[in-house]
Amino acid sequence: MSTVQNFSHNNVNNKLSRMKEWRVPASIVAKRTKNPIREIVYNMNVTPNPEKEYISLALGDPTHYGNFKIHENCIDAVITQLKSHKANGYVPSVGVESARIALAKKFSTKEAPLTSEDIVLASGASDALSLAISVLCNEGQNILLPRPGFSLYQTLSESKGIECRYYNLLPDRNWETDLDHLSSLIDDKTACLLINNPSNPCGSNFTRQHLESILSLCEIYKLPVICDEIYEDMVYGDNIFYPLANLTKTVPILKISGLAKRYLIPGWRVGWIFIYDYNNILNEVRSGLASLANLILGANSLIQNALPDIIMNTPQSFHDETDKLLEENAKLSANVLGKIPGLHVIVPQGAMYMMVGINIEEFKDINNDIEFSEKLVQEESVLCLPGKSFHYPNYVRIVTTAPAEKLNEAYQRIKEFCARYHV
Ligand SMILES: Cc1ncc(COP(=O)(O)O)c(C=O)c1O
Repeated sequence: MSTVQNFSHNNVNNKLSRMKEWRVPASIVAKRTKNPIREIVYNMNVTPNPEKEYISLALGDPTHYGNFKIHENCIDAVITQLKSHKANGYVPSVGVESARIALAKKFSTKEAPLTSEDIVLASGASDALSLAISVLCNEGQNILLPRPGFSLYQTLSESKGIECRYYNLLPDRNWETDLDHLSSLIDDKTACLLINNPSNPCGSNFTRQHLESILSLCEIYKLPVICDEIYEDMVYGDNIFYPLANLTKTVPILKISGLAKRYLIPGWRVGWIFIYDYNNILNEVRSGLASLANLILGANSLIQNALPDIIMNTPQSFHDETDKLLEENAKLSANVLGKIPGLHVIVPQGAMYMMVGINIEEFKDINNDIEFSEKLVQEESVLCLPGKSFHYPNYVRIVTTAPAEKLNEAYQRIKEFCARYHV
């Protein structure tokens, strides 16, 4: 039988100011956690024209239109695990051993060997990024981020009280890093450099020489690198993807990747960190990552257990097909948009994005990329994210994964829209 416990009011400290009224503020961390894209889009009027079918070219989710299909092997791998009744429990925080062994086997190269000890699994590349930033940076330090760049880097960093410093990427050099600008931002409080290759939002893929130049700079300043390679190998044409870790024996690297894009399963939420450190510079960081991995008691057990099968038995032809479709869409997008007066495109080399520049002074009644995107959706029901979402005004980002007929329809409408405003 339960009894009501009497609380003695004699023990109450009447002086506590908290007793006057209820006050439950959100934490400082919550308040400084911002999603720049959401904030920009919330403040825009993105009501589509009801007379035209809505086409979003804004979502970086390749499953959105259903034209990029996942491979049957991935489905079977999960069904097998589900039916085994062995993949339902908690897993080690750093990840299931069989998954880490399979990843080490699949991604080891002669230049950059890996063991399962070098791998931490996470809940998507986003969680892997969060762990990597947390383990390398302290509150009050700064991190170097690409501009234009994926806005989650800012969200994660600012949430942890880390100052973001943005280094320029150069559109007329296929979005290569402006190394002089980058080096001008470095000081004693710089914790690390983050690079993203191939890039969201640029669709660029760095050459080997450019990656080597970045590594030389890191060597001079003794800067560790977080290298977000979630779009690894998703390149087309003559472009070759070079994993950064293959190109250095001295610069310590935390490489980020995952299943989301390469296997077209972003919702399955498994990503990872590979630790590349040949000179024991990251010893503390290595155990720090193991500690931080405890924060969520491990990523999805079902998918981690299916991972060896997914990465070992999905045929290369599946990836080739994906890249072919991405290439066709990128070509179509660059061809059509590149001919529209008032716009200029930087032809993508990889990933699933393209940045389109707006020669804003050539447009009447449109003063910036936000107004361009807003009017475009209101009049033509086509949504593209304004470049401001990536710290890069007077551009828009196009996601090139929609089916060709949708892209063609959207681009035809963009053409008519531009013709109305171009002077
Ligand atoms: C550059 C980049 N890194 C990381 C992520 C997040 O990946 P995940 O879905 O595995 O968390 C994305 C998702 O769009 C991305 O574009």
